[in-house]
Amino acid sequence: MAQPRRSGMMRAMALPQHIVILTGAGISAESGIDTFRDGGGLWEQHRVEDVATPEAFERAPDLVLRFYDMRRAAIQERHPNAAHHWLARLEREWPAHVAGGSVTVVTQNVDDLHLRAGSQAVIAMHGQHLSAWCTTCDARHRWTGPLIDRPPCPSCEARALRPDIVWFGEVPYEMDAIMAAMDRADLFVSIGTSGAVYPAAGLVRLAREIGAETLELNLERSQGSAWFDETRLGRATEVVPAWVDEMLKRKE
Ligand code: OAD
Repeated sequence: MAQPRRSGMMRAMALPQHIVILTGAGISAESGIDTFRDGGGLWEQHRVEDVATPEAFERAPDLVLRFYDMRRAAIQERHPNAAHHWLARLEREWPAHVAGGSVTVVTQNVDDLHLRAGSQAVIAMHGQHLSAWCTTCDARHRWTGPLIDRPPCPSCEARALRPDIVWFGEVPYEMDAIMAAMDRADLFVSIGTSGAVYPAAGLVRLAREIGAETLELNLERSQGSAWFDETRLGRATEVVPAWVDEMLKRKE
């Protein structure tokens, strides 16, 4: 197990060099994308077992493909909000603010709003709506249209494309890259996630184990709220810009 690297006293004085930010559906809510567990959220409208498991896809592929076709179409009509834009700004400016500094976004979201806002170091651990995965040749292709008509894979022509989404019971993507980012994190920030789904929900505990500071920005306390050093409650479009502004004004 990694050892804490710094004492509490040093943490209070030093600016964090490496920042890892975990985001969830709450950061995209004000862009008009439904969250999962809030009132009226996606999992109130659809049963997870019907649309977000490999078994569902085997049992009722048309239902699953239609569900994701609708979601894929919908996100293309949405736009990044101030929270996405300010995180992109933090990533751009942090290396100049703190020598060798870095900002990595680990997102559970399958929209592309962080990328469209300009963030570059983005790990999409639950996959992406705008990607299709060929289960025959394993290729992934950027995909903006529907999959319901079983279009051929551009690589192997098999009609075996599925949404490139991590379903329940499947292993999230890029866990090695996430662990590498976490391993050097001095500050871990969680934004707009309920803390209900692992392994993402466990990252705050890992952050504490390695001695990183931990901050939660959310509309309400998440399930893992007690694990954070600090919680700031409010809408993402308000609390995120305010926090980034504060970070960029901080001096050693
Ligand atoms: P949830 O829907 O579980 O949680 C959204 C969180 O965002 C809640 O804690 C809300 O209070 C908060 N929230 C809502 N509006 C907000 C706003 N305007 N500003 C700030 N916070 C706001 O979504 P996730 O935690 O992202 O997985 O869900 C995690 C995973 O569960 C998803 O990636 C998805 C889902 O099943 C897969 O599909 C694999």
